[in-house]
Amino acid sequence: MTEKEQELHNRAYAEVKRHQQQVMADPYRQSFHLMPPVGLLNDPNGWIQWNGTYHMFYQWNPFAASHGAKFWGHYSSTDMVNWTEEPIALAPSEWFEKNGCYSGSAVDVNGQLTLMYTGNVKDEKGNRQSYQCVATSDDGVHFDKKGPVVDELPEGYTAHFRDPKVWQENGRWYMIIGAQTEDEQGRALLYQSEDFQTWTFTGPLAGAGIGQVDSFGYMWECPDMFSLEGKDILIVSPQGLEPEGMVYHNKYQAGYFIGEANLNDPVFHHGEFTELDRGFEFYAPQTTVDDRGRRIIVGWMGVPEQDEEDHPTIENQWVHCLTIPRELHLSNGRLLQKPVEELKQLRHTPVRFEQKEIHARTTQLDGIAGTTVELLFENLSTVGELFEWTFRGDARLIYNKQERIMTLERKHIKTRLMERRQCYVEQLHDVQIFMDSSSLEIFINGGEEVFTSRYFPDPSDQSITIRSSQPAAITVQKWDLDV
Ligand code: FRU
Repeated sequence: MTEKEQELHNRAYAEVKRHQQQVMADPYRQSFHLMPPVGLLNDPNGWIQWNGTYHMFYQWNPFAASHGAKFWGHYSSTDMVNWTEEPIALAPSEWFEKNGCYSGSAVDVNGQLTLMYTGNVKDEKGNRQSYQCVATSDDGVHFDKKGPVVDELPEGYTAHFRDPKVWQENGRWYMIIGAQTEDEQGRALLYQSEDFQTWTFTGPLAGAGIGQVDSFGYMWECPDMFSLEGKDILIVSPQGLEPEGMVYHNKYQAGYFIGEANLNDPVFHHGEFTELDRGFEFYAPQTTVDDRGRRIIVGWMGVPEQDEEDHPTIENQWVHCLTIPRELHLSNGRLLQKPVEELKQLRHTPVRFEQKEIHARTTQLDGIAGTTVELLFENLSTVGELFEWTFRGDARLIYNKQERIMTLERKHIKTRLMERRQCYVEQLHDVQIFMDSSSLEIFINGGEEVFTSRYFPDPSDQSITIRSSQPAAITVQKWDLDV
């Protein structure tokens, strides 16, 4: 380790130590979600299962609960449930990354756990430079920086050029990068390499002016490309979309295109962009495939510049967390997200109601309460016009059967005024909810739609209520969750 690296590590660990007690005592500290030990977390990075162990890295500013020079923090796990905090993977110690080791991905290259990430550099005038950099590890814990492998911008693009996602196909390495054209349009660019050292720009794969897309935001962050069940999928986080009906109400979006790609030409014939999430906080997700062949997605449960400074955890020196891992599938041209089955290990103390009649009176079912629970509501096709859930007096989920609209309302993090997000749900069958101390992840119809949101209820409020405008007999299950 260089002296500069050592110094940054020491300073970061000193921050962790200094605020540890305060951070841990925060009532909004989550129990089964990955969080920063102190400071700010944003994107999931380097998500991979390597030699049987899952590794999750994350964008981390250890020095403040706000954005700044980013490190890569690191957790590992053998089951995606019990996580171990690992030493810092990357600190912004070198000239090519001095303003942050920005987002990137991980692959196995000749037996080494290899990271590809963006070195972010800003001069005194605020001018930005971006380098795509490599770091390697033999043990999956200690990383050696190899420096930039792409140090030039492709012609016609600005320095908003970052977040490389790398994969191997047919013996060749591919890298997809988030980019902005000089006329400020978002695109995803494709690179290729034979040896992981020399990378060639082969062309834009999607974005403004490519194929059917006219203009779609001023920057595309965190692209991810993969095949799933016979289709090619591009996930991307575009910035600059305007709200339209029920969609694009968050500050920035995360969603996907499905189609057929030819990586060597390169072309990607794809359909419309679909949001991955309908809630308030979901951004910059990353996927990986594990040794059981599952394609697993994890997102940041936050959105850049959206109420970030209003989170009540900031006064306790930390902010943000990641989502639970979810398995992806394709169904009727849509991505389905299902919580990975390992999460069942967290379940204990089950409560179950079979064919329970729910009425227009607000009902609290015996034993259906808590702050850290999983809930499963089934048989919902029989519910009347309106069915409604409330969570700890702070958030409300409403299904309007006639309008076929699902609505999530929550109290705004700061103003406490109600705000809402909505989507169409043709027919409601089931709702599965993961509640942690300060988050809700709501999976509709086996993951056809997902609402992911932070919320900050009165920590002592454990109430969960349900109500149906017409009597309905449903199945309700609840488990306490604990790591
Ligand atoms: C997305 C993002 C990435 C960037 C990283 C910096 O949230 O802006 O584009 O690499 O965060 O932390």
